[in-house]
Amino acid sequence: MAHIDEAEINHIRESSDIVEIVSSYIPLTQKGKNYFGVCPFHNDHAPSMSVSKEKGIFKCFSCGATGNVFKFVSDFENISFAEAVQKVAEKIGITLKSQITKPVVKKYQEEYQIMNFTSLYFQNNLMTERGKQAVAYLQKRAFDESVIKEFQIGLSLENNSLYELLKTKKYPNQKLADLGLISQKGLNYYDIFVNRIMFPIHDLHGETVGFTGRIYLDNSTPKYLNSKETYLFKKGNILFNYHRAKDAIRLEKKLILVEGNMDAIRMYASGIKNTMALMGTSLTTNQINEIKKLRVPILLMLDNDSAGNLATFQIGTLLEKEGLTVLVVRLSGEKDPDEYIVKNGIEAMQDNLKNAISFLEFKLAFYKQNKNLQDGEELASYIKEVLNSMKENPDPILKEITLKKLSDDYGISYSVLKEELEKLATPTISFDPPVMEEKKVRKTKWMDGINHILYFMMNDTKYLFMYKSKLGFLNDATYRGVANEILAYYELHKTINLADFLSYAENSKLKKEIYEIVESIKEENMDEQIMEEYIISVKKIMKEKEIKELKQKLKLELDSAKKMNIALRIQSLKKEV
Ligand code: GTP
Ligand code: MN
Repeated sequence: MAHIDEAEINHIRESSDIVEIVSSYIPLTQKGKNYFGVCPFHNDHAPSMSVSKEKGIFKCFSCGATGNVFKFVSDFENISFAEAVQKVAEKIGITLKSQITKPVVKKYQEEYQIMNFTSLYFQNNLMTERGKQAVAYLQKRAFDESVIKEFQIGLSLENNSLYELLKTKKYPNQKLADLGLISQKGLNYYDIFVNRIMFPIHDLHGETVGFTGRIYLDNSTPKYLNSKETYLFKKGNILFNYHRAKDAIRLEKKLILVEGNMDAIRMYASGIKNTMALMGTSLTTNQINEIKKLRVPILLMLDNDSAGNLATFQIGTLLEKEGLTVLVVRLSGEKDPDEYIVKNGIEAMQDNLKNAISFLEFKLAFYKQNKNLQDGEELASYIKEVLNSMKENPDPILKEITLKKLSDDYGISYSVLKEELEKLATPTISFDPPVMEEKKVRKTKWMDGINHILYFMMNDTKYLFMYKSKLGFLNDATYRGVANEILAYYELHKTINLADFLSYAENSKLKKEIYEIVESIKEENMDEQIMEEYIISVKKIMKEKEIKELKQKLKLELDSAKKMNIALRIQSLKKEV
């Protein structure tokens, strides 16, 4: 995190009204002390998110999302915590004393400048006499002036005109070559993009990092020429149109993924703004992680050909494995969404989107292709394929639905299908010995107790003092670490509240664990009596654990004096329990 002084962060947090800030993103209604709204971090229509003015915290009772005002802004806008602090400060009219610098931007300042300048140059070319034919091409494809402006569409020319221009600005040749704008042959340098309609490609923050250029004069190849991979342009980290689409995606609670850039541009320009394009026909882990952060269902609408069909299957499978909800639209008639909208209009497209099928339905049809299910053997192999594809799916409800559907469609007994699926699944999932169960219950109770104790401590010093005097120690390194973070915060500020502690947690190695604890607390009741009960329960379980460990030690100990000591210790612990 960039360096913003902690006292300053706390000051901004205190001066801001979380209700006001959150309402600038989603509508909230007041009910009693709290405010409620539809959570933007998971797919829902019920108002499951509560915002507490008093505590400075939001909390979704359905998906568990929680945090202070900065966390909300940073998750909603997909920006860093430091950027969110800056944003909130701006909204309430406070000027930050400490400077936030985006390190990446600073590092590559000149590179970004070159890319922006190049993009502006391309855009300008399109507006000149030499751009007439390209504009005519774009018009023929029904991309009007407003689309050209919004997507910063431009034109590259002949005669190394870009290089000649950049030369006058004294940028080092090597840098231009590294950015993928020119290439060296012998002693000379040449423009990479010649006579192409140029589309800038932005990273997730909206910085221009590369280009894709389409031919328009003839049918020469390649149809599209893309920037090479550079330190700014990493295809595997980018989704085309991400920075324009992300807000619409949150509002619509859906991400539409298409194959071609032109499809994304057409969709966006037609008002379906929650659309991004793949950078190829697969997704990298990084891209999937970015998609996951948006926490909305994904609608796949890839090209209407067999490659698009296969990619739908592969990408859908990847996304479902990550626990995401996947929907599918397979267009018919036209080749891709762009052509579909041009030929059939936007209403026809909207109808398609409304009638999207579940990925399950798509998958069942996908496996059915080229199979004659009247034939017993082919039906059996079909069923096995479907069951196989389900074994890694994390969603038990989806599994039930699929089995039920197979059973209904083909008259196979449900229990046989379920048995088959269990055989295919890995043994650890279906087999849970009873001894483990008991252990699990105790472990859950123990964790529940500790989670509450630590959560209480984050909220009020009185619980922190109770912890110090009545418990003082946790026999688990991670939780002990969290307790120490809380105590360290108190030492620093001589006070504590949840909202500010969460700002502090941003820099903690245990950030993830701290959030897990806060997210695990579902009810709001807090008082000393309840804290006392949790302390007693946790203390008891810790002692029981110690007794068990000592008994183990006792068995292995040979020295009789030491044996005696251990036995006495066990006895006294037993009395305490
Ligand atoms: P239009 O023909 O202009 O409508 O493009 P499209 O968006 O329909 O492209 P298409 O479906 O043919 O290809 C999908 C995506 O694959 C494009 O957006 C490009 O990113 C990429 N692509 C297509 N052709 C080429 C090519 O010749 N070279 C490279 N590198 N990429 C291509
Ligand atoms: Mn197309």
